Amino acid sequence: MLEVQPEIDPVPVHIAIIMDGNGRWAEKRKRPRLFGHKAGVDSVRAVVEAAREVGVQHLTLYAFSTENWRRPGLEVKGLMSLLKNYLQAELDNMMTNEIRLGCFGQRDRLPADVRRILEQVMADTAHCRGMRLNLALSYGSRAEIVAGVQEMMRKCSAGELDARAVDEQMLSDHLYSTGQPDPDLLIRTGGEKRLSNFLLWQVSYAEIYFTETKWPDFRKPQLLEALRDYAGRQRRFGKTGAQLDTE
Ligand code: IPE
Ligand code: IPE
Ligand code: MG
Repeated sequence: MLEVQPEIDPVPVHIAIIMDGNGRWAEKRKRPRLFGHKAGVDSVRAVVEAAREVGVQHLTLYAFSTENWRRPGLEVKGLMSLLKNYLQAELDNMMTNEIRLGCFGQRDRLPADVRRILEQVMADTAHCRGMRLNLALSYGSRAEIVAGVQEMMRKCSAGELDARAVDEQMLSDHLYSTGQPDPDLLIRTGGEKRLSNFLLWQVSYAEIYFTETKWPDFRKPQLLEALRDYAGRQRRFGKTGAQLDTE
């Protein structure tokens, strides 16, 4: 049967998602937390596919934060192994669907085998132009900004950069997201209402969508609901509603 979707307009160019609630989803079912992370991988697949279908051009998924290294060793190990399996299994699919994989975060902190496959998938999909999928791995926004500032200061000391030339665009160009537009829509699943050190610079004008739905239950219908909510908002960027009506 042909699926008829009411048109969603506009579709955000860039969506960023804090995929939260896997552990609680599993605990509610009296299962180990890793069971929730496994179900969460199926949500990743579903959401990537749906985002590609509706024409999202950049999708950034918060998969592991710099703070998540503090979790019990076994959980971290399980997450890294799920990540490796996901990357191995998805390469063909990404190529077919023209999805270019990128990574935001401290790649050097990832286990060597995970890093190897990650970099391989990034290289193999570098020519893909359909959608950019950024995985935030060992990612922390403050660390990202500090590293960007350090790099600009290094250039200043080396005489490659005049400090007076530093502006907002230049700092953006020194972050992992360089060359990509800022997120239009930030989604957080799992009911918490915080940013947890995610894209603090880049989301300064994003529309924020919080949902109680835990990540393993967030699939295509839930994404479409978030997109419809977004499409109904007026982004004023400081102007008045009346000004926008006459533009
Ligand atoms: C998000 O789910 C996945 C990661 C942070 C890796 P959680 O594991 O944080 O799940 P809750 O918040 O404990 O339910
Ligand atoms: C944020 O979730 C990080 C990811 C989704 C990867 P957390 O569950 O780690 O966030 P806090 O600790 O509740 O803020
Ligand atoms: Mg959590």
